[in-house]
Amino acid sequence: MKILITGANGQLGKALRKVFEGSPLGSSVIYASHADLDIANGEQLSRLIEDEGVTHIVNCAAFTDVDRAEDNKADCTAVNNDALKKLAIAADNHGVKIIHISTDFVFDGQTHCAYSESAKANPVSHYGASKRAGETALLALAPESIIIRTSWLYNLDSENNFPAKIISKAHSENKLSVVDDQIGSPTNAFDLARAILKILSTPQWFPGIYHYCNSGLCSRYDFAKAILRLAGLNDRVELIPVSSDNFAAGSGAMRPPFSALNTSKIRLTYGVETPHWVDSLDHAIKTWQH
Ligand SMILES: NC(=O)c1ccc[n+]([C@@H]2O[C@H](COP(=O)([O-])OP(=O)(O)OC[C@H]3O[C@@H](n4cnc5c(N)ncnc54)[C@H](OP(=O)(O)O)[C@@H]3O)[C@@H](O)[C@H]2O)c1
Repeated sequence: MKILITGANGQLGKALRKVFEGSPLGSSVIYASHADLDIANGEQLSRLIEDEGVTHIVNCAAFTDVDRAEDNKADCTAVNNDALKKLAIAADNHGVKIIHISTDFVFDGQTHCAYSESAKANPVSHYGASKRAGETALLALAPESIIIRTSWLYNLDSENNFPAKIISKAHSENKLSVVDDQIGSPTNAFDLARAILKILSTPQWFPGIYHYCNSGLCSRYDFAKAILRLAGLNDRVELIPVSSDNFAAGSGAMRPPFSALNTSKIRLTYGVETPHWVDSLDHAIKTWQH
């Protein structure tokens, strides 16, 4: 088995590196950052697959800036859909299996019940639409693929995530406004990385779409409150709940108001664990090396 991890310098890529390095599969992994490999370059990809004897790809490469995607639609689509098609074709030509990461933002959030894999996708942002188009293309071109939709992903080893931003702002501001009408499930990237390791360590391969997030739900406001409490910063800053309408003030992308994911399928199929989001956040903050 030879596993290629694309987008290896992103949040999930970094978590995968740490989780895989301590595992029996550790010596079977190639980590490719964006600088090492552009997934839109089908030729480069095919060469790497052939030269290294790649058998599996975990695709963590993506255009993930949800707000910037609205004004940079072509750039977002180029990575999340067009490049994914090239990756799918190159992989399928060489019999390589793909684990691809997608998002809760493929849903519109007009429900109060955790989304199952068979629920109808209806993205409300360009980012969500590009990720949904990527899912559809991947399943058409490489039907043996596994797609894992996750939500509210964070890794404190990176700066560009909700907990890191809240902690950083708590050091520079007295008041913080956070929306209390977006409900979802935070996901520690290390938990998702362990789930991916479990899938790759399982002899059977069950293709299709899966949902993975930490268990429990919260609003962005509750999430921020827990971050400040667990980081010992709750006395430093006043947290103000606001509605998405006030907050966005017409700028940025729309987000689904409710995007909790039902994770029964991945737990039953692969026996992976979905720790509670508060426990995982507590662990992430306690073990954070900053
Ligand atoms: N973050 C979340 O809250 C969240 C929620 C749900 C789902 N997801 C999904 O989870 C996956 C991992 O997300 P993440 O948070 O780890 O993202 P991330 O930190 O933004 O990492 C994405 C990585 O992809 C790289 N990349 C971009 N275009 C590329 C290309 N053409 N070829 C190769 N690499 C490229 C980026 O490199 P550069 O920065 O150098 O361009 C970056 O290192 C993504 O599929 C995302 O859609 C994320």
